[in-house]
Amino acid sequence: MDLKKRVMAEKAKLTIDGETYELPVLESTFGDKAIDISSLRQRTGCVTLDYGYMNTGSCASAITYLDGKQGTLNYRGYPIETLAAECSFVEVSYLLINGCLPTENELRNFKGMMNKYALMHEDMVHFFDRFPAGSPPMSILSSMVNTLSAFYPEMINNPLEQIDKMAARLLSKVRTIAAFSYKKSLGQPLTYPRPDYSYCANFLNMMFDLPVSPYEVNPVIVNALDKLLILHADHEQNCSTSTVRLVGSAHVNLYASISAGISALWGPLHGGANQAVMDMLERIHLEGGNYKKYIDKAKDPNDSFRLVGFGHRVYKNHDPRSRILKKLCDEVLQTLNLSNPLLDLAKEIEEVALRDDYFVERHLYPNVDFYSGIIYKSIGIPNDMFTVMFALGRLPGWIAHWKEMWDDENWRIGRPRQLYIGPKQRRFVAIGDRKVCDERFS
Ligand code: ACO
Repeated sequence: MDLKKRVMAEKAKLTIDGETYELPVLESTFGDKAIDISSLRQRTGCVTLDYGYMNTGSCASAITYLDGKQGTLNYRGYPIETLAAECSFVEVSYLLINGCLPTENELRNFKGMMNKYALMHEDMVHFFDRFPAGSPPMSILSSMVNTLSAFYPEMINNPLEQIDKMAARLLSKVRTIAAFSYKKSLGQPLTYPRPDYSYCANFLNMMFDLPVSPYEVNPVIVNALDKLLILHADHEQNCSTSTVRLVGSAHVNLYASISAGISALWGPLHGGANQAVMDMLERIHLEGGNYKKYIDKAKDPNDSFRLVGFGHRVYKNHDPRSRILKKLCDEVLQTLNLSNPLLDLAKEIEEVALRDDYFVERHLYPNVDFYSGIIYKSIGIPNDMFTVMFALGRLPGWIAHWKEMWDDENWRIGRPRQLYIGPKQRRFVAIGDRKVCDERFS
């Protein structure tokens, strides 16, 4: 990635202790320009302090662009609305990882590799037996993905030469692991992947097929799942993707890096929010539907409660994914002839919150998680699998970022700096003489 061509004529000027330093400014294709501060510490003895990396670019990337003010999202230059309407999840995965949409032949080869690698080593299948009943599926998923590096070590050397194979293996195996972890949690026999099924049909069949009642693939459900995965496939430098990049920056293998990303996604402030939204809606519904009480709680500065599924670090406008999901939710329920009081509740909450000054002033809109849980639930996926579904969708994005990082000549091992605020030097006191543990010894 040659960034020299991006250096602009204008310079940023920074004055510290009366001395002015000029810093290069880099041009982006869209959106924020970047001030290159890579020489800052060396030249000035200062570092920048930016909790939560609100203003810090950690890399240059050509994968995804999102405009938080406009509420738009593009993968490799294609608007999310077009990709969700026209493509399959496997096509979008290929696009994210390889940078261009596949030809028919390329797509056939990619699918062929995914089928070839869908099965899991039988020894690995036995690992599932050792997880205690009730294990969180996200813990099983991150452990099993890390374990892939033990079963398929041949992929670890020269990773970029093997990236197509590794990507196909991961995309198909994570789907198998996710379905197996669900089956094991129910104590049901495993259903193995079928090469004659599409990516999502295969997943649904592995989840719901039983010897006593074979699963009938429903195209409406397959299509809904395909769209859900596309909408989750990438979101530039979010918490889990940055984790994959940071772990991978130490040249850790792809499987272990993705496993770290899965752990980051687990948090209720990130991918775990879809489960938290459903838990919240179910609780409000059980309590008689008084959502106003929860909106008031969310607005109360003395209450730590937040309206889950609202707000986003980058979107300060509608999350475009949430708009597509709201429509998809209606379509799925209508086609399957289902009614779900939680959908009505979610719509009412959205309507009230979007008119409320608290939410308006803070630019808090429904995010991708607000409606996804209702669709997952309607197609038979239980609450504790929602974040696993998110991981399945986000996988091609993580792989694409890991690949981009490995390929980047500007790559450096991730190692942030800090503003040290601890004691200067403390007098050591031997253990027998320590009466209190406080500043007295400093
Ligand atoms: N409900 C009520 N108030 C909120 C909410 C919310 N969901 N989100 C933010 N706020 C308020 C904050 O209390 C704060 O108010 P203040 O200025 O009076 O102190 C203000 O809005 C700004 O909030 P921040 O936490 O600074 O916003 P940030 O961009 O750091 O956080 C986040 C974004 C973590 C997503 C936040 O909006 C949140 O916690 N939302 C609920 C959890 C959620 O839905 N997470 C999923 C995100 S999407 C994803 O990861 C896939």
